[in-house]
Amino acid sequence: MSYYEEYSRSLNQTETFWREKARSVDWFTFPEKILSKNEKGLYRWFEGGKLNTCYLSLDFHVDNGRGDQDALIYDSAVTDTIRKFTYKELRDHTARFAGLLSDLGVEKGDTVVIYMPSIPEAVIGMLACARLGAIHSVVFGGFAPHELAIRIEDTKPKVILSASCGIEFQRIIPYKPLIDQALQETNHQPDYHVILQRDQHKAELVSEKEIDWNEAVKTAKPADYVTVDSFDPLYILYTSGTTGKPKGVVRDNGGHAVAMKYSMAAVYDTHPGEVFWAASDVGWQVAHSYTVYGPLINGSTSVLFEGKPIRTPDAGTFWRVMSQHKVKTFFTAPTAVRAIKKEDPEGKFIRKFDLSALKYFFVAGERCDIATYEWATKMLQKPVIDHWWQTESGSPMLCNMAGYGLDKIKPGSVGKPVPGYDIQVISPDGKILGPNEEGLIVIRLPLGPGCLPTLWQDDEDFINSYLSMYEGFYLTGDGGYRDEDNDFYIMGRIDDVINVSGHRLSTGEMEEIVAAHPAVAECAVVGIADDLKGQRPVGFVVIKDGWEDAAETLEDELVKEIRGKVGPIAVFKSVVIVKRLPKTRSGKTLRKVIRKMADGEEFKMPSTIEDPKTIDELRQSMEQKKVGVAFTH
Ligand code: COA
Ligand code: AMP
Repeated sequence: MSYYEEYSRSLNQTETFWREKARSVDWFTFPEKILSKNEKGLYRWFEGGKLNTCYLSLDFHVDNGRGDQDALIYDSAVTDTIRKFTYKELRDHTARFAGLLSDLGVEKGDTVVIYMPSIPEAVIGMLACARLGAIHSVVFGGFAPHELAIRIEDTKPKVILSASCGIEFQRIIPYKPLIDQALQETNHQPDYHVILQRDQHKAELVSEKEIDWNEAVKTAKPADYVTVDSFDPLYILYTSGTTGKPKGVVRDNGGHAVAMKYSMAAVYDTHPGEVFWAASDVGWQVAHSYTVYGPLINGSTSVLFEGKPIRTPDAGTFWRVMSQHKVKTFFTAPTAVRAIKKEDPEGKFIRKFDLSALKYFFVAGERCDIATYEWATKMLQKPVIDHWWQTESGSPMLCNMAGYGLDKIKPGSVGKPVPGYDIQVISPDGKILGPNEEGLIVIRLPLGPGCLPTLWQDDEDFINSYLSMYEGFYLTGDGGYRDEDNDFYIMGRIDDVINVSGHRLSTGEMEEIVAAHPAVAECAVVGIADDLKGQRPVGFVVIKDGWEDAAETLEDELVKEIRGKVGPIAVFKSVVIVKRLPKTRSGKTLRKVIRKMADGEEFKMPSTIEDPKTIDELRQSMEQKKVGVAFTH
């Protein structure tokens, strides 16, 4: 069937469409209802369905002739290691680790926090939770202890899983001190902390609650998979909202399984037995969906990569991995491509490797600039496909869908709505806009299966943050437009969320931290354009009267503070001291004007500005500090 037929069926015969797609999943009990609403009026997919996501990812394939096929290929460029796991091996490791978790008291419905680098044990930990019906919450290793503490306090895990260290280029990062520090900040204390000792660094285990992963697993007995309901949460993954409190996106088991199976074929044209590689850290949504669950539920082979696109050891690493493991479908963030392009503009490394198995090169996570798209297309001579999704959706919502036969690629566009998503552009006053009119990107309810049914233990925040602005629509937080062919163009966030190296961060949260410094009278943290990272946050600070002496050390102190509270991935490195911030007469800081000025974009002097002189003052401060592409290029 063509994309158009499928898309139209998904909107006009929604339940028939998804009933049919749901049949590709091996349910223990097929759902009684496809789409329903709960008592709060929130949509739910596949009511009455019973399944187990670990069974679908592993046991199903072992039972159906794929036991000896590679399920996971771990390729660590930072430790020079390759380890392959067949479906049977991965099932056995997972069952045994689930047995250990069960011995530690983890049961269906309990939560487990995972703070680990991209190593196979992180995947085993996730799948073991799914096997027991426990809910995992993976926290990215680049987050500081404070961020980890927020997530521990919110999820109240029974057990924490971690490794003794992560490796950043050549730098060893011991994890235990970070976890210990986080636990000092939280009221909630997990019963156990299971630590995988890596050769590069051994953690000191000091209490009975701290358990050596490999030692303990030796005596554990394999645990069987349990039956869960469609609506039971599989995992929670926190993402940045506009405030200091991250949003706990909940993924349910039933909708997720169907979305994974459907998208692997329809979006990525990847089938059982074929090799898929999403080059993302396990801490991000991309890896949850397309390193762990998507490829495994699909019976494909997934590559788990530990390293960076450059300097591990060089800008040829990605091409080496693709060639060595015969990757058919690849997925990364545009930042990674920009990093490679910077080091190897001529693509000399690309030509060293046989990339004949590679069919598709997908990018997402941030806007893919045309120069990056053109470079990758020219160098690879393969389709480079930009597509758009969010942690909230868990799978792509706008895409040029390979599974229906690729459409013409339009540089700058993220493609058409994926079946199941009625995506519209709306004006701030709620009018649906036509082609080429820019506005807010919204989705008519219901969202597709696999999308967040709610936020962790917070229906109210879910409704307020996403559903209450325009009745019957989900607010994505992005702005953009579509053309006459219904191909969409995403122009960026409309809120205080920014994308740094494809990592979603909250400038609002950073502002709260900057504002807490005793010398700061007021501040704005704004995401400005960065050649490599897409965006990076910069602080604009007004110093309190009488605190002028603090100016000299303020930048260093704030940089340290954000690094310590949010983490190094915030890449907060500059503070511009200004006399005043540009504001409206009602006192709202004109952040968009600050950003546009830094990025060298044209902007109109807002009619509501309190004092136009603040704009000149701001320009002078940026010029002096040499912050923003407008003042450095
Ligand atoms: N644990 C600890 N620290 C981490 C970390 C982790 N898991 N991940 C990143 N960091 C640190 C980095 O070491 C760096 O620290 P520094 O300031 O001391 O140098 C800082 O956080 C910023 O990291 P990053 O923005 O990743 O910069 P980088 O120079 O290390 O690497 C790229 C640059 C482009 C190679 C890298 O950002 C990249 O591979 N990006 C792809 C993005 C991606 O996969 N996104 C996932 C969504 S699809
Ligand atoms: P995350 O939840 O971390 O996946 O971030 C989601 C946000 O990243 C979206 O709301 C967009 O702002 C941005 N984003 C993701 N993919 C793209 C893309 N292909 N083009 C532009 N922005 C994107």
